[in-house]
Amino acid sequence: MHRKLLAPILLTPLLASAQCPDYSTWSTQIHSPVSSGNHALSWQRPSSSCRTFTSPLVEDTLRRLESVIADPDLYRLFQNTYPNTLDTAIKWRGHSADNAAEELTFVITGDINAMWLRDSANQLQSYLPLLKASNDTNSLASLYRGVINLQARYLLTSPYCNSFQPPPESNIPRAENGAANNDNVVPGYSEEEVFECKYEVDSLAAFLQISADYHGATGDAAFFSRFSWVRAVEAVLKVAEDMKTPTFAADGRVLKSPYTFTRLTGRATETLANEGVGNPVARDIGLVRSAFRPSDDATIYQFFVPGNMMFSVYLDKTAGIMRGLKTGNSTALAGRMEEMARGIRQAVERHGVVRHPVYGVVYAYEVDGFGSANIMDDANIPSLLSAPFFGYPVNETVYANTRRMLLSPSNPYYFRGPVLSAIGGPHAGLGKPWPMASIVRILTSRDEKEVEGELGQLVRSTARLGLMHESVDAWDEGRWTRQWFSWANGLFGQMMLGLEGRMKGVLGRSYQ
Ligand SMILES: *[C@@H]1O[C@H](CO)[C@@H](O)[C@H](O)[C@H]1NC(C)=O
Ligand SMILES: *[C@@H]1O[C@H](CO)[C@@H](O)[C@H](O)[C@H]1NC(C)=O
Ligand SMILES: *[C@@H]1O[C@H](CO)[C@@H](O)[C@H](O)[C@H]1NC(C)=O
Repeated sequence: MHRKLLAPILLTPLLASAQCPDYSTWSTQIHSPVSSGNHALSWQRPSSSCRTFTSPLVEDTLRRLESVIADPDLYRLFQNTYPNTLDTAIKWRGHSADNAAEELTFVITGDINAMWLRDSANQLQSYLPLLKASNDTNSLASLYRGVINLQARYLLTSPYCNSFQPPPESNIPRAENGAANNDNVVPGYSEEEVFECKYEVDSLAAFLQISADYHGATGDAAFFSRFSWVRAVEAVLKVAEDMKTPTFAADGRVLKSPYTFTRLTGRATETLANEGVGNPVARDIGLVRSAFRPSDDATIYQFFVPGNMMFSVYLDKTAGIMRGLKTGNSTALAGRMEEMARGIRQAVERHGVVRHPVYGVVYAYEVDGFGSANIMDDANIPSLLSAPFFGYPVNETVYANTRRMLLSPSNPYYFRGPVLSAIGGPHAGLGKPWPMASIVRILTSRDEKEVEGELGQLVRSTARLGLMHESVDAWDEGRWTRQWFSWANGLFGQMMLGLEGRMKGVLGRSYQ
């Protein structure tokens, strides 16, 4: 019924962009001029008039790094990837229909025309090093405010969902999600607003992350009391508190789960066991359940450790913003946020750490509170490998053990081969390591040799397309998934800028 209503306005945006090639197709082809090294990587930036946003600061950074990154192919990767979100994914910017001062930014994930809470927060994080306070609507600061406002709107109506449709103000037609047509989800949601409703604790954390990122870089505290931010944080806290609900009451009764999800599917990772509840979790251990992982695959045990780590980090960071507002109940809310963060951190260290027969004490990927633990890692952030990157105060001994284990055949999802060896996950399949995991390995490494090894793999494994794919077959460079994965592209650039600051030497080497 919704589809019929929206059909007439389909024409406008399609006609408007008719001059520009569809980036989904364009990014699967090799364009000249190719880079001058042996890897001869494609040029992948759309022409200036087809870019979805232009930032002089980003263009300056691209020019500046030309004399810092010595290898022409590595530089080409940086040139293509760093601006990719601005070039291709800022689908719409505007203002709220009911408040002309409220900026909105609709950021698509890339090849899917929908906005993920996690992806959009991370897509903008790539530009955090360049973000500064500005009221200009053509600034990076405005993009950030627009994403925060739109995420707040989504969380206020559908706080369990992970990805969303364009706002009505944009007049962009809603994207079709064939896979979700038969989903049975409680609580229900409007298909006009939601693209998919997989509940993931890290989606809640993503909203807090982009809020903390914006506040940290701009110091613009006033923004947070201007629109719906405080109410959205309350919605986030309510979901997190509700999702501490265990499976059974003390007397053995089965408690009603606040969230259930089933889908008609042939993939075990796309639906939840026990009529949509998921596998049972134990009573009150202080962790928040997550039905799905940041890969959008179902968790096996719902106490998803990296998601809880990340949520605690950003609860703490945004509690500071809340406390500073000094309006209504902000002091009480800040206290609630800090208390929840502390409780989760303690629970992670107590229940999320297990003894491994070879590597000693390690962090588990997922636990159930009954004593079962899932020993693995998945490429998507938050992962165990990325814990120090997103600021979780890891136990150094436990993290070092965990890292050694995760980057070895003891991690069932560490895939090895001549093209790329890195962590992957069930989402793209066995034998398909993710470039994103190689980037995270660099982000969490202090070892120049290790970093050079990873950079070499990344330069070699793009099938000459010069972009970060979601996954690559470890044994066949030509078999990759997702030609247009904006977040992974931005993360590559963010990582390179980080190396300029902390390990500049590796950018002066050859990767031929
Ligand atoms: C933005 O506008 C506000 C309100 O007019 C003003 O107080 C603030 O200084 C401005 N910020 C910048 C960075 O110009
Ligand atoms: C503050 O919190 C109290 C108790 O939780 C509640 O009754 C009251 O409505 C809240 N006030 C505001 C302004 O949110
Ligand atoms: C880190 O973990 C180890 C092993 O569980 C433990 O012995 C040590 O006390 C922890 N260190 C800190 C600072 O908590």
